[in-house]
Amino acid sequence: MIITGKYPNLRLRRNRKTDWIRRLTEESNLSVNDLILPIFIVDGKNKKQTIKNLPGVYRYSVDMLTQILDKAVKNKIPMISLFPYTKLKLKNHSGSEALNDDNLICKALRFIKKKYKNEIGIMCDVALDPYTSHGHDGIFKKNKILNDETIEILIKQSLLQAEMGCDVLAPSDMMDGRIGKIRKSLDKNNFENVQLLSYAVKYASSFYGPFRNAVGSSKNLKGDKKTYQMDYKNSLEAIREVTLDIKEGADMVMVKPGMPYLDVISLIKENFKIPVLAYQVSGEYSLIMNGIKKKIIDEKSIMESLIAFKRAGSSAIVTYFADKIIKYL
Ligand code: PBG
Repeated sequence: MIITGKYPNLRLRRNRKTDWIRRLTEESNLSVNDLILPIFIVDGKNKKQTIKNLPGVYRYSVDMLTQILDKAVKNKIPMISLFPYTKLKLKNHSGSEALNDDNLICKALRFIKKKYKNEIGIMCDVALDPYTSHGHDGIFKKNKILNDETIEILIKQSLLQAEMGCDVLAPSDMMDGRIGKIRKSLDKNNFENVQLLSYAVKYASSFYGPFRNAVGSSKNLKGDKKTYQMDYKNSLEAIREVTLDIKEGADMVMVKPGMPYLDVISLIKENFKIPVLAYQVSGEYSLIMNGIKKKIIDEKSIMESLIAFKRAGSSAIVTYFADKIIKYL
C-alpha cells in the first residue's frame, strides 16, 4: 500500500468534514437485501408469545404468521429463517418429531409457500436439537453424539423440509460429512434446486442462551456441544471446515455467532469466493437490547453492529433486528 505525502499535506479529517463527504466515501453499507429474519413458531391458534430475554421477538402460531410476514414481504426482506418451539411431550431421544410431516416446521412451510409463493425465501435449520429430549443436535448414545447415525436422520429431515417447500436448507448440526450426503440425496430426489447454506463455522458458544429458551431446549440440554461445535480459540480450523463444505456442495456458508467472530468472517471471505453469511445470535441481540433499555448505549448501536458484519465481508446477516432496522435504512 502506497501512502503519498504526510501531515500537514495529508489531513484525513478532510474526508470526514461533512455528512455528504462521509456518505460519498463510505466503504460499506447496509440494505434490506442483507437481512434474514428469524421467526419462532409455536403450536395452537391465535398465539403471539413473548420470549424471555428476547424483547420484541415472539413465537407465532402458524395462523398468526401473516402479522410478521406481511410486513417482511412488503419491506422486501429476502429471506426468513424458521425455528420451532416443540412441546416437551413431543421430544424424545432420537428427535423423531423432526421427521413428522405435520410438525410445526412443515405446517409453517406449507402455509407460507401457499400464501407468499416466491415473494420471500424460506430457510430451515437442519438439526435435531429442537426435537430431542437431551437438547443435542444429533443422536446421543453413551455420552457421545453419533456422527454417521445422525446424518441418516438429517438426510430425511432435509428431504422432508425440501418437499414441504423449503428453499434453503441450513444444516446447523456440525456433523462431519453431512453436506455431501444431504446434497447427494437432494439431487437423487429431484431437489437439485434446493440450496444448502452450511453453518460451516459454528462455535460452541455461550451466546445461544436466549435461543435455546425460545425453542424450549435450554432446560433439557445435557452437558455442552463442544464435541461437534468449534472451539472458540480456533480460526484456522474454520478454513478446513469451509473447504470441506464447499467441496461437498455448499452454496453458501455461515459463521456463527457474529460479533465476537468478525475476524473469522474476514478470514473466510479472503480465502473463499463464496457468499459468507453471519448470524448475529440471540445473546448478542439480547445484550444490545438490554443496553438500550438501561440507557447504557443508544439505538444507533444496532446499525453499528450490523455494518460491522458488512465491513468484515458478510453477504447477509441473520439477525433479530431484521424487521426493526428497516425504518433506519
Ligand atoms: C441449533 C441452533 C442454535 C442456534 C441456531 N440453530 C443453537 C445451538 O446450537 O445450540 C442459535 C441461534 C441463536 O442463538 O440466535 N442447531
